[in-house]
Amino acid sequence: AGTAVRGDRFSGGPAREFLSSLAADERIFEADIAVDRAHVVMLAEQGIIERSEASEILTALEAIALDGHNSLPDGEDVHEAIESAVIEQVGPVGGKMHTARSRNDEVATCLRYRLREDLLDSVSATLALRSALENVAREHGDTVMPGFTHLQPAQPTTVAHWALSYERAIARDTERLLAAYDRTNRSPLGGAAFAGTPFPIDRERTAELLGFAGIVENSMDAASARDFLLDSTAALAGLATHLSGLAEDLIVFANKGYVDLSNEYASTSSIMPQKKNPDTLELVRATAGTASAGLDGLLTTLKGLPRAYNIDLQRASGHAWSTVDAVTEATDVAAGAVASTAWNDSLLADAAGEGFTTATAVADRLAMCGLPFRTAHAILAEAAQHGGSVDAIEAAAADVLDEPLETYLTREELRALLDPVHSVENRDSRGGPAPSAVAAQLDITADALDVD
Ligand code: ARG
Repeated sequence: AGTAVRGDRFSGGPAREFLSSLAADERIFEADIAVDRAHVVMLAEQGIIERSEASEILTALEAIALDGHNSLPDGEDVHEAIESAVIEQVGPVGGKMHTARSRNDEVATCLRYRLREDLLDSVSATLALRSALENVAREHGDTVMPGFTHLQPAQPTTVAHWALSYERAIARDTERLLAAYDRTNRSPLGGAAFAGTPFPIDRERTAELLGFAGIVENSMDAASARDFLLDSTAALAGLATHLSGLAEDLIVFANKGYVDLSNEYASTSSIMPQKKNPDTLELVRATAGTASAGLDGLLTTLKGLPRAYNIDLQRASGHAWSTVDAVTEATDVAAGAVASTAWNDSLLADAAGEGFTTATAVADRLAMCGLPFRTAHAILAEAAQHGGSVDAIEAAAADVLDEPLETYLTREELRALLDPVHSVENRDSRGGPAPSAVAAQLDITADALDVD
């Protein structure tokens, strides 16, 4: 009693397990070793500790790194446990490791150090998915398919145009992840508890040793800030939202027979022998829920925290880890599913014209001939009510106009306009589905994939 050393304060009590983050800290074990090393090297370079002392500590850290997280002594967290292990090995001099720092700047540095790696994995996963989509686009520039709005047949498009629509969206996710990486890539080390230190530390040096692009300048901000977790989790939640749409499309397409998922990405039913279920894609779709939970968990944990450090922050990082793990895995799975899916060209071609999807093409042509688009729309809307056949269109035109449709279009031209292939070829406006327009989009995608 009365000897208030830290070990005593964390020696027991019913909340011991509740307080400790040691188990969860396995995620940042290697990061903490790296941070300890950099800090000790800097302390020695600055003459704050003796070189011989630094060398003893570094040797102990080497051994602790080899033994791994599971060999650590008990502790409130990985930082404390590693420090205890160092002291066990080299005696009290090991306690010099924690000169001029706090666990507050230490943990913030560890999180950033580890998250960088995870963000790069997630970026790689987006690149793999984008290149799978690019390959689909290269193979299916001429494969017409129905395009939908409100899940109803709308206008014919191509598989390439569909694939690149997702590639472009996920390219922005890559950008957001890289932007999150840049903001993560700053070192808070040396901010100490939040209030700096009287020791002549060199924060730029530890940042450099740890590969950070710079430091978080304000020491209170350095210890407190977790918006790098927020940036990353938000970027991942956006990616997960895109993945859910992509998965949903493929599930619907599989349901209609437009695509065949490879068996490797499908499951069977334990009772219904005929089933081939798109289970992996459904789990990709569900990952948006995991990511949204992570983002919400983080936002609500961070909300209203006073400056500077509060141990609520210990619970913040788990939301980011669960999100990055789930979303990166789902992105990898989506890439595999996209790459191994077979497109049923002939069924798609048949379906492309179903539901009078070329009505807009006819209306557009009549408008190009000088009719107000609204009048053309009225003709085709009436024709649609009567099945959308050539006869129905002619009858509707006679009804709406004072002159026969022939004034504008021959029957032959009309028939051509009702062909989905023709319809796609005509829509060659920039960014459109015509093979010529898609070729330009493919160039953009290929260049962006090179750069990213
Ligand atoms: N384990 C803590 C975390 O993950 C860091 C420890 C700081 N603890 C403290 N009481 N200041 O945030």
